[in-house]
Amino acid sequence: MFSSLSLAALALASVAVANDNAVSVSTLDFKNRFVDSGIVPNVIAALDPSVSFYAGYRAAADGHSELLVPGSSLTLSEASLPIEFSVENLQNATAVTQQTRFLIYLLDCDAPARNNPTQGNLRHYLAGNYTVAVNGSGIVSSEILRGAQRLTVAPNRFFPFTPFTAPNPQPNTGVHRFIYALYTQPSRFDTAGFESVGMEAATQNWNLSRWRTQLGLGPAIGATFFTIDTDANGGQGTSSNGTSVPGGTNAAAGMSASLLATGLTAAAAVLGVMTLF
Ligand SMILES: *[C@@H]1O[C@H](CO)[C@@H](O)[C@H](O)[C@H]1NC(C)=O
Ligand SMILES: *[C@@H]1O[C@H](CO)[C@@H](O)[C@H](O)[C@H]1NC(C)=O
Ligand SMILES: *[C@@H]1O[C@H](CO)[C@@H](O)[C@H](O)[C@H]1NC(C)=O
Ligand SMILES: *[C@@H]1O[C@H](CO)[C@@H](O)[C@H](O)[C@H]1NC(C)=O
Repeated sequence: MFSSLSLAALALASVAVANDNAVSVSTLDFKNRFVDSGIVPNVIAALDPSVSFYAGYRAAADGHSELLVPGSSLTLSEASLPIEFSVENLQNATAVTQQTRFLIYLLDCDAPARNNPTQGNLRHYLAGNYTVAVNGSGIVSSEILRGAQRLTVAPNRFFPFTPFTAPNPQPNTGVHRFIYALYTQPSRFDTAGFESVGMEAATQNWNLSRWRTQLGLGPAIGATFFTIDTDANGGQGTSSNGTSVPGGTNAAAGMSASLLATGLTAAAAVLGVMTLF
């Protein structure tokens, strides 16, 4: 089930409580970790990201906002809702401007079980019309990683093709890999949903290469992933947020307290996005 609060959280950034020394991951590290995990080439034939793409989640242990880095292990509760999407190095992506819209998906490539993924890829989320968030002073930074730019969707453009369904893999079905990916959105979808090109609502056995052709997409410009270990902790999984990232550069430590104190949160992001158009 899906409350309107959750919808808002997916479209906008929600209020961060605090963060714990979030650090950047180089775009090259993203690429390498997809190979190390076997996702490339087994699930995605190739990945050559031009941006570092992050999700944020709420750590179960202390309720703090954490940066999802590729290969983080999450509990079911941590995976239940992303609190923010953000990017770094957006200038490295081709043909991206402040007006560019993006689409984002989440899938489980190991459904229903890692050793028998008969439903993979299982789509958990797909929505378009994301843009970089801007406000009166320019680009709005991530609430978790100050050097990153936040991605948001204005409510009047938020029509998720696949509404978010929280990952809920069954216990003892192995280590599931969940992939978030970011694409630039072809302009026809600024005014029409993905069904307009015949995309079907079924979420199981999602063929990514067929889908990319159907929508006329280029390759993903960014992607990240997390795992849920269903063999651990009674099926609830374990938490390792990967704050010490080998090869990562230390971009930001500590969330801007003033951002919170002044209450510039989701509302400011919405207003900022509105002023763009
Ligand atoms: C992308 O941007 C970063 C930061 O501006 C830069 O250091 C890097 O060399 C660029 N190119 C790639 C391929 O990451
Ligand atoms: C825009 O957002 C940034 C945070 O990313 C904040 O520091 C700044 O004060 C905001 N400006 C306005 C006019 O809301
Ligand atoms: C983007 O927003 C427009 C409304 O402004 C809507 O018609 C369109 O379907 C949306 N596209 C996607 C992919 O959600
Ligand atoms: C996915 O679609 C492509 C292109 O239509 C096709 O060649 C491939 O066999 C499909 N893969 C599966 C597993 O059905």
